Formats: sequence, C-alpha cells, structure tokens
Amino acid sequence: MMTSTFNHVLTMNDISKEDLHELLEDALVMKQQVKKGIPHEHLRGKTLGMIFEKASTRTRISFEVGMTQLGGHAIFLSPRDMQLDRGESVEDTARVLSRYVDGIMIRTFSHSMVETFADHSSVPVINGLTDHHHPTQVLADLMTIYEEKKQLDGLTMAFVGDGNNNMTHSLIQGAVLAGMNIQVSSPSGYEPSAKVWNEAEAKAAAQGSGIHFYSNPYKAVTGADVVVTDVWTSMGDEEEAAERLNTFRSYQVNEALMAKAAEGAMFLHCLPAHRGEEVTAEVIDGPQSHVFDEAENRLHAQKALLKNLLA
Ligand code: CP
Ligand code: NVA
Repeated sequence: MMTSTFNHVLTMNDISKEDLHELLEDALVMKQQVKKGIPHEHLRGKTLGMIFEKASTRTRISFEVGMTQLGGHAIFLSPRDMQLDRGESVEDTARVLSRYVDGIMIRTFSHSMVETFADHSSVPVINGLTDHHHPTQVLADLMTIYEEKKQLDGLTMAFVGDGNNNMTHSLIQGAVLAGMNIQVSSPSGYEPSAKVWNEAEAKAAAQGSGIHFYSNPYKAVTGADVVVTDVWTSMGDEEEAAERLNTFRSYQVNEALMAKAAEGAMFLHCLPAHRGEEVTAEVIDGPQSHVFDEAENRLHAQKALLKNLLA
C-alpha cells in the first residue's frame, strides 16, 4: 500500500518525488499484469466520474479502460447534458457528484474551475487537462522515459514550441520533480508562465538541477536526452492558428534539430500531432520516436494514480 501525500492531482506539484517513484513502479507492475492477463482489480465497486468540456481521444479512453481493468466503472459526463450548462454552480456540482462517485476527473478550459471543484469535492479530483496544466500526460511521459532510460535523475529534457501551454507547464514541473534538467525554447511572447518558471527555478536550484530558457531551439536541444514538443495551436486557441503557424515556423522539431540532441535521444509528443507543423513525419515516425508507447503509458500511469487515490 502506498503512502501518498496527495488528495487531488491538479498539477505535477501535487505529487512528491517519493510518490512519483512509487507511482511509476506500480504503473510498470500493472503494465506487466495487463500483458500477462493477471487480474488486478484494486478498485472493485468504485466509480470515477469524468467531466469533459474539451475533446479527447487518449484521456477519455485510457481513464475509462483503466477503471474497467481495475474492476471499477467510469461515467462520461458532458457538461452539455448536465445542469452545469444551465447555470448550476461548479461548487454545487462538486458537492453533489462527490456524494455518488469515488473520484472525479475533469478536462476543462480554466484551471481555476478545477481548483474550485476540488475545494468543494469530498473525493479526489484529477486534472485531465486545463489551459494551464496536463499532469496525467506528464506522468505517462516520465514513465516512458524511465522505461527506456532506466533513470530520470540527471537526464536532460528539452521542450521546443509553445512555452505557455498546459504541456510545457506540466513538463517543467515534472522534470524538476524527477531531478531532470529542463531546457525550454519558445518564440517571444510564448514563454512559460512566470509563476511556474520561478517556482521550478527555485526547486531546481535547491536540488542542483538545471533549468534554462533559450530563444534559439538549437541551443535548447543540444545534448538533450529527451526532446518534446506539442501542437502550436492548443484547444481554445483556434482563432490564432494562422498567426501561430507563422510565429512558430522556426521551432519545428525536424532531423536537423534532433541531430543536436544526445546520441539515442528520445522524441516525445503527447498527441494529437500535426506532421509538417511542430514535428516532421521523419522524426515522429522515425526510430527515435516513442509517441505510441507514451500514449499507451497513459493507461498504466493513470491506473497507478487511480489505485493510489481511490483504493
Ligand atoms: N494527449 C492527450 O491528452 O490526448 P487527448 O486530447 O486525445 O486526450
Ligand atoms: N496543448 C494541447 C494538448 C492536447 C492534449 C491542447 O491543449 O490542445
């Protein structure tokens, strides 16, 4: 039985370094159990409510399948079909839902909505993506790196692209949590949130790991063990798509950029991807890419999280 120190997971900062290692080890065990057909129904009779205000392929399916494999059940809740969309408050929705279910996963726009929900929920709340954070994806990313490299501490992660989005913020927090060095490169005006950066910088300084921002993507990727990117236009930013295509042009992850990374560097992308925009087909479909293991690991990493929070 794990001794977790968290109730809600709204950002990677809600997880301690010890929790992270226990979650990753447990996820790897359950991954093997799935492959070998060994039952692991730790959540028999438990229900997860899942609120989706934005589209999803991986998050919805991996949480729902994860609950089934753990012997529990997941309910997909569209705000359009709930009283939330007719003006019932987030506070009352949280109070009511937590009388029925054992945990709640939310994907929405504003991060403060998830914070308000968690404040009024008597059961654990998991952030399944907001405009500012995507912690469950980064848990799977760290699992994928750990699986491949057998370590996290001391490795260097480079992120190239939109620095001010959910993935970058959670990657910065997650990399520092794991003891990795983090190097970010974004165009002017798309730098990471100052709050996330300053907190991460203080933690990195305390533990002696590196955190650097470069406007030049080649500098950020130099010597990196893992290169990560994400879409240039996130959900909710669609009206800026044409402008972003232009601004981010020189921040594409292509073979020339990957050549600057360390030998055997991994390429990760949370998906969905736009080949020819943030990454070329040669890279995402090439030998350094681990994007489908990364997508699969959403299932295993989240099961470890669900088991920890709901059991
Ligand atoms: N990576 C990720 O969160 O994918 P979905 O949007 O499909 O859930
Ligand atoms: N940054 C992307 C991640 C999608 C999983 C978005 O928010 O659309």
